Amino acid sequence: MKIYVTREIPGPGIQMLKDKGYEVEVNPEDRVLSKEEIIKNAAGCDALLCLLTDTIDAQVMDALLPKVKIIANYAVGFNNIDTKAAAERKLSVSNTPGIEITESVAEHTFMLMLAVARRLVESDRFTRDGKYTGWGPSLLLGTDVHDKIMGVIGLGAVGKAVVARAVKGFRMKCLYQDVKRDEAFENEYGAEFVSKEDLLKQSDFVSVHVPLLPTTKHLISAKEFELMKPTAFLVNTARGPIVDEKAMLLALRDKKIAGAALDVFECEPAIDCDLTDNLELRAMDNVILTPHTASATIEARGAMGAVAAKNIIAVLEGGEAPNAVK
Ligand code: GLV
Ligand code: GLV
Repeated sequence: MKIYVTREIPGPGIQMLKDKGYEVEVNPEDRVLSKEEIIKNAAGCDALLCLLTDTIDAQVMDALLPKVKIIANYAVGFNNIDTKAAAERKLSVSNTPGIEITESVAEHTFMLMLAVARRLVESDRFTRDGKYTGWGPSLLLGTDVHDKIMGVIGLGAVGKAVVARAVKGFRMKCLYQDVKRDEAFENEYGAEFVSKEDLLKQSDFVSVHVPLLPTTKHLISAKEFELMKPTAFLVNTARGPIVDEKAMLLALRDKKIAGAALDVFECEPAIDCDLTDNLELRAMDNVILTPHTASATIEARGAMGAVAAKNIIAVLEGGEAPNAVK
């Protein structure tokens, strides 16, 4: 059995596949492959282990079929894979959820909230630049996080882990919105299920944790920014296109919100989709930017590789992928 891996990944995943006696070929170059390169390099593989930066559409699937049995995505999100085309071809697709990645992304989300509210990056830059010449009562004044109102849009595993931190660690009141209610979770954390409008109107921090789907694209756009408090912060560790970047830039410029903390971008890896309007995220002090690293810990990225390997092994042994997605 041959497994093609589109880029080197940390942790035990590759070794787990080798231990099964599979022939594992890893793209030796540390860069994103084009679709044509994936088709060429992965030809004849029984399983493809790919990344969220790889576009896996019907063309790739047809080139690798009938041999390929599973597309194992090394990510929780799988918007880079045409799952409808895969289902039509009876081709398995899996993702890599798990406690490690959930906790790691929730931790990063909280770090971003604290960093943007307490102006961490500005403060660091100020201090490094030798500008700290004496204590001042209003020097780099930020806002507290504790006892504020947290609004979580999307109460999946990550959304829940964010609420747990907010409630247990920071005594925050949590509001949430999801396609379905979870009353057991509400009772455990005192979280309140509210409409998206109420969540946006009341929250001091709004964090999105939904998958990117046609129905969640631009879930936060001009209308939503109008509803938010001018003192509120937006956090996005999910997928860039969930937030309408242009509307966000205008909201930040016009002080409709206080700031934003972003791990993902609408046109990533570009930080700005369009510079013609002279609005740039990187020029704004009230935003914190990280390069899609919310799950970038040794623990989480290692666990993701192990989960991807388990999905491949299950399918190649004739079973179902434990983390099959549709
Ligand atoms: C990362 O963005 C993931 O979906 O795992
Ligand atoms: C989504 O990222 C989830 O695991 O809830």
